[in-house]
Amino acid sequence: MLKGKRIVIGITGGIASYKIPFLIRLLIKEGVDIRVIMTPAATNFVTPLTLSALSRNPVIVDPFKEATGEWNSHVELGTWADLMIFAPVTANTLGKMAHGIADNVLVTSYLSAKCPVYLAPSMDLDMYNHPTTKKNIETLLSNGNLIIEPQVGELASGLSGPGRMAEPEMILQKIHDFFSTKNDLAGKNVLVTAGPTHEKIDAVRFIGNYSTGLMGFSLANEAAARGAKVTLIAGPSQHSFVNPAIIKVDVVTAEEMYKACMAVSPDMDIIIMSAAVADFTFPDPFAGKLKKTGNKISLDLIPTKDILSELSQRKRKKQILAGFALECDNELINAKEKLKNKNLDFIILNSLNDENAGFGYPTNKVTIIHKSGRIINGVLKDKKDVAKDIINAILSKS
Ligand code: CTP
Repeated sequence: MLKGKRIVIGITGGIASYKIPFLIRLLIKEGVDIRVIMTPAATNFVTPLTLSALSRNPVIVDPFKEATGEWNSHVELGTWADLMIFAPVTANTLGKMAHGIADNVLVTSYLSAKCPVYLAPSMDLDMYNHPTTKKNIETLLSNGNLIIEPQVGELASGLSGPGRMAEPEMILQKIHDFFSTKNDLAGKNVLVTAGPTHEKIDAVRFIGNYSTGLMGFSLANEAAARGAKVTLIAGPSQHSFVNPAIIKVDVVTAEEMYKACMAVSPDMDIIIMSAAVADFTFPDPFAGKLKKTGNKISLDLIPTKDILSELSQRKRKKQILAGFALECDNELINAKEKLKNKNLDFIILNSLNDENAGFGYPTNKVTIIHKSGRIINGVLKDKKDVAKDIINAILSKS
């Protein structure tokens, strides 16, 4: 599958550089055309000669220092590659990439890249956990780069924690996943909703829920990666990692989400309502901060509009509508009832009884039910993989 693919590997000065020759061997075995770029610091850990012999191509370290009089274009590799992988990438280089400090050929190539870029960080755990590093990674992710998460384990410093570069086999798997991603949503408009809604009580309080929005963000990213034009309507969420091609609309209340959904729904081919919309709202929020008096208070809440039911009433022919059902008992029966009552094509059932699944977890376990009665029982997996399963299920029936 990788035969003839053009991959640039960028190596920076981390101890994990010693693993890169193994990665190159694995890729060469699969027929990949490889070019290696190193920072000068990386040459302290692995020699350009070794990498050149394994990759069967000259290795670029710093053309400005070569003094050959020969011009090496620093943008050439950025436009040549189908994929760039920076591994290991140190805190220093992450900082340069995030801020465009192009003082070596590796960063100039990165800034010229026309292809997707994977980053495999490697550093000591305190450096990895430092807010500056975290912010730089967030910037790079929101610029559309993809991360190969470091592993937890023993580090070169003797400390133990997150910071170990992913093993070459794991990086190879990511490369396989990348090239096997189909463009099967090209030309489709997809609407995804995500996160909770907040219903105001006073100037400082609201009614909300524990949804973080991760499932919806994963669905939006997956649909965009498969070629869809995605609109993501998101309630207040701590997640900000979205593919830059996604149109993101931020809302706070159920009413705002309702209006945003109605405005775009006529153009949509697929709608996935993964937001945890509040069922009740407080119609007359108090001005300022509600003071405590020692007496009990009661709030008269009124129901919000059911966005999904309204969308199903306005549903166009051939539009696909999928909802989520969060249940704590009689899960399958209740989910099937929601599927029928809301006239959906799919309902994705989340049970509150499944451990490590649902609100606040990076993983989820879902049952995907189609209106034909066909059921796909999922296992606990990363929300990114659950998103793949949901999109696959929708496409298999559309
Ligand atoms: N939903 C919606 N608008 C609302 C409430 C829910 O569009 N005001 C959508 C959710 O996004 C989800 C589906 O309806 O896709 C089911 O949500 P869920 O909370 O499981 O069920 P409810 O319909 O709210 O019913 P209940 O809370 O009684 O289980």
